[in-house]
Amino acid sequence: MTRDTVTKMALLTATLRRTLREVARFYDERKVGDVGCLGFRRSSDLKKLLPPLESLISEGLLRPGKSLFLDMGCGDGRVNVLLSYLVRLSAGMELDEWTLDDYQQLRTALIGKLKRRCLPVPPDNIRLFNGDALDEDLYRVLEEETGVPFGDFDIFYTYLTMHDEFAEIIARKARKGAIFMVYGLNSILPKYQGLRLLTSSGSLNGILAIYQKP
Ligand SMILES: C[S@@+](CC[C@H](N)C(=O)[O-])C[C@H]1O[C@@H](n2cnc3c(N)ncnc32)[C@H](O)[C@@H]1O
Repeated sequence: MTRDTVTKMALLTATLRRTLREVARFYDERKVGDVGCLGFRRSSDLKKLLPPLESLISEGLLRPGKSLFLDMGCGDGRVNVLLSYLVRLSAGMELDEWTLDDYQQLRTALIGKLKRRCLPVPPDNIRLFNGDALDEDLYRVLEEETGVPFGDFDIFYTYLTMHDEFAEIIARKARKGAIFMVYGLNSILPKYQGLRLLTSSGSLNGILAIYQKP
């Protein structure tokens, strides 16, 4: 084992790593949109996200218990649940109310599973909002309810949804150093004006590209 691997493993406790794996397994067994007519609702493969998240922690780009996270187009909130263990605030915005409706039911079933395995349940730091992530008014609601303005978020995430439009808002309004994670990218990585590609040699784990506002 290399020194780098040992260092990375030490960043998360064994219980936390096991919990994240259980959360990922739970949601990955319940993916939406891979087949059938709900393609626009496709779910991130949470297991594939775990190694990139550890890399971001070791790079100091994700600060456990401190970072503020926003999923733009959060679907049923599964990425928010995973990230809730790693950030201070795990916020999400979702256009379709009926998609967001799945959040509570899935979370309740997940909690039952985690309790049976004596693992920690998701912290109470998840806030999901129904509306358009391009709508300024929704950011006002987010700020009123969480106390966090757009310009304070550290990490933005999207599963290819409206990525060009979201990148434009992030380049214009996010704080210097903020991160934009785009899921669903492999070898061809788009360029966004005003954002720097950190993963220029290829996406992390073949799925996640990382951009930063310089
Ligand atoms: C591919 S799904 C990804 C869901 C989740 N982020 C994940 O990775 O599992 C994209 C979601 O974005 C939502 N969406 C699309 N445009 C949006 C917008 N402008 N504002 C908020 N949500 C949007 C869709 O309704 C859909 O549920």
